[in-house]
Amino acid sequence: EALRLWGGRFEGGPDQALARLSLSTHFDWRLARHDIAGSRAHARALHRAGLLTDEQLEGMLEGLDRLEADVASGVFTPVLEDEDVHTALERGLLERVGPDLGGRLRAGRSRNDQIATLVRMYLREEARAIADRLLDLIGALADQAAAHPDAAMPGRTHLQHAQPVLLGHQLMAHAWPLMRDVERLRDWDRRAAVSAYGSGALAGSSLGLDPEAVAAELGFPASAENSIDGTSARDVVAEFSFVTAMIGVDLSRLSEEVIVWATKEFSFVTLDDSFSTGSSIMPQKKNPDVAELARGKSGRMIGDLTGLLATLKGLPLAYNRDLQEDKEPVFDAVDTLHLLLPAMTGMVATMTFHTDRMAELAPQGFSLATDIAEWLVRERVPFREAHEIAGACVRECEERGIDLPDLTDEDFAKISPHLTPGVREVLVVPGSLASRSGKGGTAPVRVAEQLERLRAGAREH
Ligand code: ARG
Repeated sequence: EALRLWGGRFEGGPDQALARLSLSTHFDWRLARHDIAGSRAHARALHRAGLLTDEQLEGMLEGLDRLEADVASGVFTPVLEDEDVHTALERGLLERVGPDLGGRLRAGRSRNDQIATLVRMYLREEARAIADRLLDLIGALADQAAAHPDAAMPGRTHLQHAQPVLLGHQLMAHAWPLMRDVERLRDWDRRAAVSAYGSGALAGSSLGLDPEAVAAELGFPASAENSIDGTSARDVVAEFSFVTAMIGVDLSRLSEEVIVWATKEFSFVTLDDSFSTGSSIMPQKKNPDVAELARGKSGRMIGDLTGLLATLKGLPLAYNRDLQEDKEPVFDAVDTLHLLLPAMTGMVATMTFHTDRMAELAPQGFSLATDIAEWLVRERVPFREAHEIAGACVRECEERGIDLPDLTDEDFAKISPHLTPGVREVLVVPGSLASRSGKGGTAPVRVAEQLERLRAGAREH
């Protein structure tokens, strides 16, 4: 006869079809460790409330220890009849300490306040683990930036050549959003750090249990202010899912660049063999699958978030079984990031940049035209006029099929008397880069400072 936590008022067991629909152990079993930790804290709360003797508490804790060891070693696993992780573990406890003692633990708690608390415990651990893997990737981007302090490349807007930038500047433009993702995870934790234990099914407990003490034992600085909210809100899960989706999007943006850079046409990077794949038919192929999978899986994580939000929308208070659907999407996002982040870090760390090719292309496409205009402004020419003059230089070059530095002093003087030979200092990439020396600009001195700040920020986490 299967253990059910709610058999009393029912004549028979559930139909097979319902039992199969209801089953969640295939995904919530990963919370077994947290469930047992919650049971220990709850047993102590019952003891403090005078509902367990010293001896009963000791027996209960000893039984939970044995159960935990058997779960860890795989000796104890859920069976098909166990509806969920909570049911399976109650069966495990009953088998170890007997029904008289084991049957006392459930007093004053519900699977509703249990699951709300366990998911938070689990996600808080994962938030720290994901942040650490993000910091690895940020470190790899920072190391590549540091290894190429002078490498210039074409900076783009609309995917068109815009202005030359330092490769390190471009790489760190991917590191900063990832750093904000780390901060988002830290910041999320402040709102997630609330235990729902003590909320019971929805209305709280009549047994004199101390929710704050249980919270403290489970590593939460506070317990829920409102037992209905404690058992029914999943905004904390949705917010976590947003951060994982955002990380996915940030990885996807970086990946798209890597994919484009690795094309024959760009030839900016070569990926290491250990982070590339081949083709089953085309012997020459070397494909950037890590980046493509990151780009693809970002869609999956966006789906995890939107699926969860759709589940939550329109649910009345308090607990509804719909809420069981919060777990698979968020677990999927966690698992996806644990696969993705180490691969991304390895790909970035082992990537070879072809800096000569990047430097050669940096000034092409008239990407120094803005430098002419800003040089003229520094010569006190109104920007409107400076823009016109620089545009005329571009037009002249285009007509003659040459580039801006190919214009002679006479050509410049003919276009405008303001264009003295001094303009040439910004018509070379290093001069252009050095001139963008305000904070946040691509001048090598600023980029070196930026790298220091990025690394200092990473150390703080
Ligand atoms: N498996 C359930 C969930 O994930 C646990 C709570 C079940 N509560 C209930 N009254 N059936 O949400």
